[in-house]
Amino acid sequence: MFESPGDALDVGPGGGRDTRYLLSQGWRVTAVDASPSAAAALRRLPQQRNLQMVLSAIEDFEPASYDLVNAQFSLPFVAPAHFDATLKSLRDSVETGGILTATFFGKHDGWNVAGTELTFSTAADIERLFLGWELIELTEVDEDGHTADGAPKHWHIFHLIARRQSQ
Ligand SMILES: C[S@@+](CC[C@H](N)C(=O)[O-])C[C@H]1O[C@@H](n2cnc3c(N)ncnc32)[C@H](O)[C@@H]1O
Repeated sequence: MFESPGDALDVGPGGGRDTRYLLSQGWRVTAVDASPSAAAALRRLPQQRNLQMVLSAIEDFEPASYDLVNAQFSLPFVAPAHFDATLKSLRDSVETGGILTATFFGKHDGWNVAGTELTFSTAADIERLFLGWELIELTEVDEDGHTADGAPKHWHIFHLIARRQSQ
C-alpha cells in the first residue's frame, strides 16, 4: 500500500512483532505501550535508530502525524469510557492518504463478560467510527480458538484496514 517507507505508529506493540517488521522495511516507528516488558522487548530489536519507544497508556499519548497507524490486538483493552476519544486521536493522526489498521473485539468474544473494562464493537460501530474513510478491509472472525498461552477462548474479532481520504 506504500511506495516507500514512512512514519508509523505501532499502538500496543507488545513483543514487537509488527514494529520489528516495519523497522526491517525501513520505516521510522513510534511504539507506544503501557507495559515495561514491552519496552524491554523493543529495546532488543535491531534498527534502534529508527525506533522511538513511548512508555504510556494509549489514552494519555499525544500522537504526531503518521503514514501508518497500526493497532493490532491493543485498542480493545482501552475502556469504553475512553475508547471513542482515543480512537479519534489516532484517526486524526493519520496523514491524508495514510492507512489505519486495527483489530477490534466483537460482542460475542469470550472476554465480553459482566464487569469487564474492555471495549467490544459491532461492525456498525466501526463503520460509524470510520465514516468518510475508504474501508479497504473489514473482516469478521467469530470462532473458537486459543489465547497465546494455549487457553481455549472464543474469538470474535474485526480486522480493519482503512485509508484516510482527503476531505
Ligand atoms: C495482546 S498484546 C498485542 C501485541 C501486538 N500488537 C501484537 O499483535 O502482537 C496487547 C498490547 O497492548 C498493550 N496495551 C493494552 N492496553 C493498553 C493501553 N491502554 N495503553 C497502552 N498499551 C496497552 C499491552 O501492554 C500489550 O503489550
